[in-house]
Amino acid sequence: VVGLGPGAADWRTPEAAAALRSASDLVGYRLYLDLLGPPLAGQARHAYDLGEEAARVRAALDLAAEGRAVALVCSGDPGIYAMAALVFELLDREARADWKRVAITVVPGISALQAAAARIGAPLGHDFCAVSLSDLLTPWPVIERRLEAAADGDFVVALYNPVSKRRSRQLAAAAGILRARRPGDTPVVLARNLGRPGEEIAVIALDELTPDKVDMLTIVLVGSTATRRLARGDGGRWVYTPRGYAAKAGKSSEDAA
Ligand SMILES: C[S@@+](CC[C@H](N)C(=O)[O-])C[C@H]1O[C@@H](n2cnc3c(N)ncnc32)[C@H](O)[C@@H]1O
Repeated sequence: VVGLGPGAADWRTPEAAAALRSASDLVGYRLYLDLLGPPLAGQARHAYDLGEEAARVRAALDLAAEGRAVALVCSGDPGIYAMAALVFELLDREARADWKRVAITVVPGISALQAAAARIGAPLGHDFCAVSLSDLLTPWPVIERRLEAAADGDFVVALYNPVSKRRSRQLAAAAGILRARRPGDTPVVLARNLGRPGEEIAVIALDELTPDKVDMLTIVLVGSTATRRLARGDGGRWVYTPRGYAAKAGKSSEDAA
């Protein structure tokens, strides 16, 4: 189960690149297989559309059970809102004798939140959490409770799946929950198509966060009350969340990394 990273090949680990090279079969969402370019000679490509996640995983397991070397590809990290959990869920739920023989490796990748953070500075420099706003698989009241807890905990919050073609209400509601507990000028990073053609990064204020500013290829990072902007004379525009060194100046630190 291979994490491709957000897009660009130079954001892909050598382990992921090797797994892709040695695979006889590439299985994945069409957009991600397209991002990889043409398959190597002799490699079979099995492209699926959005919403066919279980079919994708079953096909990958069936091919692997036949003895093929399968790369089930995911964008970012395969364990973060991606296919790895579904692989284990299906293995757990369905006692298929042929699937039991399949050897599994999960190959990590750079997740969208890490890529977005790196592009804009260090917004995840202190405690953060991730919440997916997709209520296809998770009931909205559960998502709402987690957003409220994240807001109460003053976490930097990464919002995955902020909107889809049919769904924009959730982002407006999430912005409202966060606005109730942190200042309106809290920095919000909108990162779209990271590592892919058409990459866009913008920093807005929490007060300006509305669904029309994002799409399903965007990740949203909402700062905590400590997150701040840094404008430099060279035109650099950065966002960071301090770890608290200023308050600790002069004292020794046991956990500085
Ligand atoms: C189903 S999740 C997949 C997450 C992925 N496994 C990861 O670790 O990044 C899809 C969501 O991830 C975010 N995302 C994934 N790739 C992205 C990229 N290249 N640029 C910006 N956001 C991205 C978007 O919020 C998108 O709606």
